[in-house]
Amino acid sequence: LEQGCLTIVVLGASGDLAKKKTFPALYHLFEQGFLQSGEVHIVGYARTNLSDDGLRGRIRAYLKGASEEHVSEFLQLIKYVSGSYDSGEGFEKLNKEISDYEMSNNSGSSRRLFYLALPPSVYPSVCKMIRTYCMSPTSRFGWTRVIVEKPFGRDLDSAEELSSQLGELFEEDQLYRIDHYLGKELVQNLLVLRFANRLFLPLWNRDNVDNIQIVFREDFGTDGRGGYFDQYGIIRDIIQNHLLQVFCLVAMEKPVSLKPEHIRDEKVKVLQSVNPIKDEEVVLGQYQGYKDDPTVPDDSNTPTFASIVLRVHNERWEGVPFILKAGKALNSRKAEIRVQFKDVPGDIFKCKKQGRNEFVIRLQPSEAMYMKLTVKKPGLEMATEQSELDLSYGMRYQDVKIPEAYERLILDTIRGDQQHFVRRDELKAAWQIFTPLLHDIDAGKLKAVSYKPGSRGPKEADELSEKVGYMQTHGYIWIPPT
Ligand code: BG6
Repeated sequence: LEQGCLTIVVLGASGDLAKKKTFPALYHLFEQGFLQSGEVHIVGYARTNLSDDGLRGRIRAYLKGASEEHVSEFLQLIKYVSGSYDSGEGFEKLNKEISDYEMSNNSGSSRRLFYLALPPSVYPSVCKMIRTYCMSPTSRFGWTRVIVEKPFGRDLDSAEELSSQLGELFEEDQLYRIDHYLGKELVQNLLVLRFANRLFLPLWNRDNVDNIQIVFREDFGTDGRGGYFDQYGIIRDIIQNHLLQVFCLVAMEKPVSLKPEHIRDEKVKVLQSVNPIKDEEVVLGQYQGYKDDPTVPDDSNTPTFASIVLRVHNERWEGVPFILKAGKALNSRKAEIRVQFKDVPGDIFKCKKQGRNEFVIRLQPSEAMYMKLTVKKPGLEMATEQSELDLSYGMRYQDVKIPEAYERLILDTIRGDQQHFVRRDELKAAWQIFTPLLHDIDAGKLKAVSYKPGSRGPKEADELSEKVGYMQTHGYIWIPPT
């Protein structure tokens, strides 16, 4: 890392995201020596009236299991400033806190990172305040960078409006739109897997691939977040951002180089090649009991489950369905990519029904990659069965601690690497794909069917997958060892 004075300001410091993700990620960076005492200054900012120790106590509660000595040292780096999100007074105070530290540090530099762990409604006013009161002084060596969290708008127009508002205050290279799925180990592995392995190069296309599923499941509901969730729904919460980012990395062409701009150029291209979504290739669901949450309206049609088929209109993927599926309150918690290959022509073993070759990348939990193959069943008979080539990270990389997504992405921001962040035109292209569908749902033209909590979701979703080509291998469930 560059040397010199670094201040990380967490706005919304008393909120859930800050406590559960941002501060623990900062702690882990500190523990690994990326943030050093004497070189980094962390400031929490929020409206709540709290002392420095008050905030430290709240953070400590989320660092259970960590070394007491490290935690105490880390907490000493943290200060708290309280103020509102739209008045100059608080931000003047914040700027004074940062400037005093920079002066006392005497390194001649001023690197300032602002993490907005806040609801998007306050982004414009907070960014304006940062721009007016808290920028790194040009007289000192340094920079100002701002991390913003999704949701970036509700549809194309609102996202574009937000982008313009932020664009008037900051340059694109100062804005880091975080999508934490881009910080997950196996998501980061996708480009390596695809473009550093000769094996996959000739296979990864419409000649060999039958269909691709990108699936997100959670085994809990909207627990206490119903009010927020009901305004957005599963498509805006998970599919339009997390699953679409994964889709880009699975479907894009090889970038010219690993420069962030080259990668993001390819992502934009593949997004622009997606055809409009057809209503008959969408299944929406809502789990029974969702509306029992008092903050959810009784007549809510907000989907907590959606399965959507994307069709890519280009030379590589024409005709291959990409099924993006996400749901809350299902029977398991996992996120995975399933690349299902076409049938072998001339089935001399009569084993077609046992299942196809399938390459599965399990993003979480228990990171793994495995390839389902047909092999001879060991023994005297010439019989076949499905087995797997398995790379389970828990077994292969036993001594390696896989970093948390937020940890990695905050470090990238400090390093100024935007590769794993969403560029403005990428965001626009993503909204272009989903906005017509979302408007139809908001207008009640598409209805969410109800499903039982703890189930696989609506049976209509399995029917849709099978209709567009996915072959279920009934009775075969492979669980990689942890
Ligand atoms: C968040 C969504 O972005 O991602 C949540 O708002 C969801 O609804 C979460 O639970 C899932 O993240 P992860 O890393 O646990 O898969």
